[in-house]
Amino acid sequence: MKFTLNNGIEIPAVGLGTFRSKDDDAYQAVLHALKNGYRHIDTAAIYQNEEEVGRAIKDSGVPREDIFVTTKLWNSDQGYLSAKKALKKSLERLQLEYIDLYLIHWPKTYEKAADTYQAMEEMYKEGFIRSIGVSNFNFHHLEHLFETAEIMPVVNQVECHIQYQNTKLHEFCMKHGIYLEAYAPLMSHHIKELLEDDTLKEIAKKHDATSTQIALRYLLDRDIIILPKSVTPSRIDENLKVLELELDDEDREALRKLNKGRRLFPEPDNIDY
Ligand SMILES: NC(=O)c1ccc[n+]([C@@H]2O[C@H](COP(=O)([O-])OP(=O)(O)OC[C@H]3O[C@@H](n4cnc5c(N)ncnc54)[C@H](OP(=O)(O)O)[C@@H]3O)[C@@H](O)[C@H]2O)c1
Repeated sequence: MKFTLNNGIEIPAVGLGTFRSKDDDAYQAVLHALKNGYRHIDTAAIYQNEEEVGRAIKDSGVPREDIFVTTKLWNSDQGYLSAKKALKKSLERLQLEYIDLYLIHWPKTYEKAADTYQAMEEMYKEGFIRSIGVSNFNFHHLEHLFETAEIMPVVNQVECHIQYQNTKLHEFCMKHGIYLEAYAPLMSHHIKELLEDDTLKEIAKKHDATSTQIALRYLLDRDIIILPKSVTPSRIDENLKVLELELDDEDREALRKLNKGRRLFPEPDNIDY
């Protein structure tokens, strides 16, 4: 399953997340994922695993052009010149000639975002980036970016899961041709609560699936790209199998009602890093 981004590039709807995947765990997870059907990997400079991700991509034997690789520019690298340097470093660590999607990891000031984005547009035109996106951008960050951007971002990667469905921002992004990418789609460090949810358990039983698969499939059904993270081979496989699952309207309605508007990650307007 793929979505076509607003610049015509296709993105696999399921990507492997790698936040908190460290050293050999990151390498083994990416290698296992690529050898077992994943074609989309999400990393970031701040995860400190770009080298392992790059090595796993090389060792997987999967042709480079078949893999969609995302990385993100860290906050301290925002700015026109520093953004250019940061991308070069990420490319070196990943041992890649280009990346498929480069994201501004968190919004800082409007001015910094505009300068950073301009550098990214130039790197896009030079062929180092196949698409440009943002992450953790609220409505107002996007509106300001639209004033100066020449090229529309293709995605906004934000927190999105069963308890924080992010419906309004999703609608706004879709209206502007920007796909939402769900981070923490399994509620991240709060996954235990997702596993204990009775509605998810019931729907999972009905489909002979797992609660995690139901939670992920619901996001795909909303046309949201998902980035479940795991370093456990059986879970990496389980998460990709959501592509074979089919929910019905009754399931989706029950899942919609689980929304509590509850964030697990910091509100992007209040970060201090
Ligand atoms: N842009 C941003 O600011 C931002 C912020 C956060 C995350 N992200 C991206 O989004 C990705 C996903 O978010 P996340 O890593 O925070 O959380 P997540 O994917 O919601 O949850 C990961 C947790 O779920 C466990 N898990 C995964 N599949 C499972 C399964 N089938 N059954 C039971 N447990 C399972 C993992 O354990 P094991 O690994 O031990 O198997 C891990 O503890 C990140 O890895 C990163 O790529 C981006």
